[in-house]
Amino acid sequence: MNKLVVNADLGDVTISRHIQGHFAEHLGRCIYEGIWVGVDSPIPNTRGMRDDVLDALRALKMPNVRWPGGCFADTYHWMDGIGRSIDRPSMVNVHWGGVTENNHFGTHEFFDFCELVGTEPYVCGNVGSGSVREMAEWVEYITMPGASPMSDLRRDNGRAEPWPLKYWAVGNENWGCGGNMRPEYYADLYRQYACFLRHFGGDKLYKVACGHTDEWNRVLVDRCHQHMDGISIHYYTSEGGWNKKGSATEFDEAGWFAMLRGGSLVEPFIRKTAGILDAYDPAGRIGIILDEWGSWYNVEPGTNPGFLYQQNTMRDALLAGLSLNIFNAWAKRLHMANIAQTINVLQAMILTEGGRMVRTPTYHVFEMYNVHQDATLVPISLDCAKYEMNGQSIAQVSASASRRADGVLHLTLCNLHHADSADLAIDLRGLAAQSVSGRILVGDRIQAHNTFDQPDQVVPVAFDGARLSSDGLLVQLPAASVVVLAIS
Ligand code: AHR
Repeated sequence: MNKLVVNADLGDVTISRHIQGHFAEHLGRCIYEGIWVGVDSPIPNTRGMRDDVLDALRALKMPNVRWPGGCFADTYHWMDGIGRSIDRPSMVNVHWGGVTENNHFGTHEFFDFCELVGTEPYVCGNVGSGSVREMAEWVEYITMPGASPMSDLRRDNGRAEPWPLKYWAVGNENWGCGGNMRPEYYADLYRQYACFLRHFGGDKLYKVACGHTDEWNRVLVDRCHQHMDGISIHYYTSEGGWNKKGSATEFDEAGWFAMLRGGSLVEPFIRKTAGILDAYDPAGRIGIILDEWGSWYNVEPGTNPGFLYQQNTMRDALLAGLSLNIFNAWAKRLHMANIAQTINVLQAMILTEGGRMVRTPTYHVFEMYNVHQDATLVPISLDCAKYEMNGQSIAQVSASASRRADGVLHLTLCNLHHADSADLAIDLRGLAAQSVSGRILVGDRIQAHNTFDQPDQVVPVAFDGARLSSDGLLVQLPAASVVVLAIS
């Protein structure tokens, strides 16, 4: 029998809601079509943003969204995206399909989107092809309440008040698409850029430096730790590595296992990054910002290879559940994580086709897990069976627990095994539980997914596999399932 001890009355770390953050890049059909359809579109919209997507994202309790990239960020010149849309110059989106970007979705539209959804902006500025002045003026444009060249321009463009802004990244993947830099060079640039980034509204900007591998991160943290609030790292999972990504929907048990094993290895990556920070910042002031993570498969057949459009199955649901449980366990150091990407790109929450929209299995996991947002992490200890395949193994069950301010305990549980159910005996220490209720996400097969014709193949339903007794809580987890329990 698998055993889980939950120390329900212990714990002093808050799970930041930002661990369940998002990422929307000017890539493929994420921004255009996915969010922005324009005010003249027949698709119902609010000031150009499609209403179905806004509603779905509100229901998710989306805590933040990273924008405008990604690789796109280091090619983006923000001044091209303000003013009357017909006057805005276009550009070529060199990283993503070489398509023409008309700049109709710019700073005003992005912050309007954030206000409509009720989510916090996380902006990534251009280091690779921009300038210190360009980035500093963008922050001034967004945050300056009084008169200034940039705030006057903002007012001329129709926005009197500054927008709330906290999270700001100084470039993206500057070791690669963001400028092919060496860590020493980027570290010097980071110090320079960070020096001129000023929040004019009196709030403190949370400045994120671009991290990478351990080797890069050691140089960066050594040279910049006094000047940074967060370090950004990225972690993608593919079936057989970068050159053998696999199909999103056509996979076997080995492909299922490979993705979940690959996903579980984000934990040692976070641990190693945290170890580098510990040496300079034992108190934990500097956060890890895992601002890109998720599954990356071959694109759906017949779609533009530069658009990164992929389907999303129960395998992605389990990857999301497993990853979010791991992130919770690192909540002290992990200040934010952003799944890539919100709509129509990589491990998306939402897929669209014309006026139609589907919520993916990953969407449903994020919705189920939002009970952890800003709750207290509850310490747990799990002793469970191994899930083995082809000489490799991972724990069959993944779990996380948190306590809400009103005392309700939430458990999120994943049974990673493709075929075997898991019985779990839970010892609820420090809680005289009276009631348990829950929901489960499970498909009729491991490849189960939602399509535009069958959008509700995979949706959460009430869970009746949890029983309270004088010995604690007994849970029967079906194979390949994600469960959330509320216990009080
Ligand atoms: O998310 C897609 C791309 O992956 C991002 O633009 C880039 O930062 C990363 O390499």
